Amino acid sequence: MIKIKIPATSANLGAGFDSLGLAVNLYNYVYMEESDTTLITSLDQTEVPSGEDNLVFVSAKKVYDLCGKPLKGLRIRQKNDIPMTRGLGSSSACIIAGLVGANHMLGKPFSVDELVDLAAEIEGHPDNTTPALLGGIVTSVYDGKEVRWVKQEVHRDLFFYAIIPDFELKTETARAALPQKIDFKDAVFNLSRAALFSASLLQGKYENLRVAADDCLQQPYRIPMIKCGKEILDATYKFGSYASYISGAGPTIMAITAEDNHFFAMNIRETLDQYKLYGYRIMQLSIDNCGTQVFSD
Ligand code: HSE
Repeated sequence: MIKIKIPATSANLGAGFDSLGLAVNLYNYVYMEESDTTLITSLDQTEVPSGEDNLVFVSAKKVYDLCGKPLKGLRIRQKNDIPMTRGLGSSSACIIAGLVGANHMLGKPFSVDELVDLAAEIEGHPDNTTPALLGGIVTSVYDGKEVRWVKQEVHRDLFFYAIIPDFELKTETARAALPQKIDFKDAVFNLSRAALFSASLLQGKYENLRVAADDCLQQPYRIPMIKCGKEILDATYKFGSYASYISGAGPTIMAITAEDNHFFAMNIRETLDQYKLYGYRIMQLSIDNCGTQVFSD
């Protein structure tokens, strides 16, 4: 039996659509072992698919298939602290759990780079899967076959406040809302900001982050799908956020603040209450620089 610990991830970081992502200290745990039959259960209240369409199983099976190893079944137990379909990388966590778990059980036939590629192939884009595996803040480019990536560790006194709505937003719905074509000037707007983001975060040039997180490719189309999304974004800046953006495909809004901004969560809670958004949660998170870890008994 092995235990796999996979971090939540926050993708896009505003302008870096399908390219930038970072890992935070909120985790899913997956326990896995080979078995004569497949049995998949949840260790908490989360409903998980119990058949062979389960994403952890699908991803693990892919590793077995690629290695030409027959797989009778897997016993999988999942503890999902990462909220599902909220823009915090829950599906990427399942993919990474399956790939890393199977790779570990088979004696690590695949390198880290190969796992990064496989994960991007399953997910379709690398901006959650790569930091879920590696931790830190990751810039990745996927050409449809291979991912080119750079991981950087963030050792800064920052909090990442995830403001998590009480409804789901499917990635496919949020992607369907995006335009098919964009103007040249909009492309320049975004690429310059995406390039600015990680350099500014890592060098502590926080005064750049608000500009760097601005984006005109996806957030303007997605923010109307988040009840009071615009009002929440405005409130995060009013109360001292360095940078705020829709996390991945949403609906979570992420705000990056100084660690000594002691009143941020209280102020945002009051704002949510003003809009009667009593079901929205606020989680105070930090960067995870480790990425996915495997423990054996
Ligand atoms: N980059 C992706 C998106 C992240 O914004 O659609 C969600 O999977």
